[in-house]
Amino acid sequence: MSRNSFQLLDGNALAALWKQKIKDACASFKQKPCLAAVLVGNDGASQSYVQFKIKDCTDVGFESKLIQLSEDTTQASLLETIEALNQDTSVHGYIVQLPLPSHINEQTILAAIDPTKDVDGFHPLHAGRLMLSLPSFVPATPWGILAMINHYQIPTEGAEIVIIGRSHIVGRPLSVLLSSSAKYGNGTVTLLHSKSKNLKAHCLRADIIIAALGKPGFVTADMVKQGAVVIDVGTTRVQDPSSARGWRLKGDVDFEHVASKTLAISPVPGGVGPMTRIGLLYNTLEAFKSLNP
Ligand code: GUN
Repeated sequence: MSRNSFQLLDGNALAALWKQKIKDACASFKQKPCLAAVLVGNDGASQSYVQFKIKDCTDVGFESKLIQLSEDTTQASLLETIEALNQDTSVHGYIVQLPLPSHINEQTILAAIDPTKDVDGFHPLHAGRLMLSLPSFVPATPWGILAMINHYQIPTEGAEIVIIGRSHIVGRPLSVLLSSSAKYGNGTVTLLHSKSKNLKAHCLRADIIIAALGKPGFVTADMVKQGAVVIDVGTTRVQDPSSARGWRLKGDVDFEHVASKTLAISPVPGGVGPMTRIGLLYNTLEAFKSLNP
């Protein structure tokens, strides 16, 4: 490979393969897996994420239900909705889209979801099981990144892996998974966050950088070692008057200047995002199978 040619980690193409696989797996079922999504409030990004998740269900032959609640829904009322979903035998898996309005305690809500239906894998039971390398629902973004690493045969054993961002949804679980003794693991993981010092020095050592901090263009070319693999989890909406919507998605990596230094890099859009959506479909299929053995 010449110094300037890099492998594009094409999340759209890989997601299409996975969608076909899931559709095929579903074809022989008499009953279809059903995913429900609960959306509280009117956040534009959350609304479009949930719409994508519903569309994905249709694409692979799943049923879906969208439960939209107003911004001023009380915590007690949301807990009632959750209890109803826990009892509803026609729903095999469901998610509560985050973030929630500030008057609702996120951890109280996540802990109320029946773990057998918690296809986001956000319940403390799943977080604990993941920590112990026991079978669990792996949160969708880490799942998608591992599927990408696996498909593109990116070696992780003994690799210096730097993850930027310690969120419960992405960075933290990913740090556990990539340092575990599984096939995709055995990495030497450094988890960087907003209080980390010498960020650039850590990044320059990395064989693999995973940027998941939500700051557009944060990872610049001077932070990346020649021949590193760079995975971009960022999806910030930035103003773009040339786009009909007035905005576009921008990742945490300055792709334009970083790409030519890398061995492989994921784009935004079309990288981790589509694979995250597959993670949710995969977990829903697994939830369905365990409820219908
Ligand atoms: N908000 C951002 N990402 C996610 C996700 O993966 N699941 C849910 N429920 N909310 C999110």
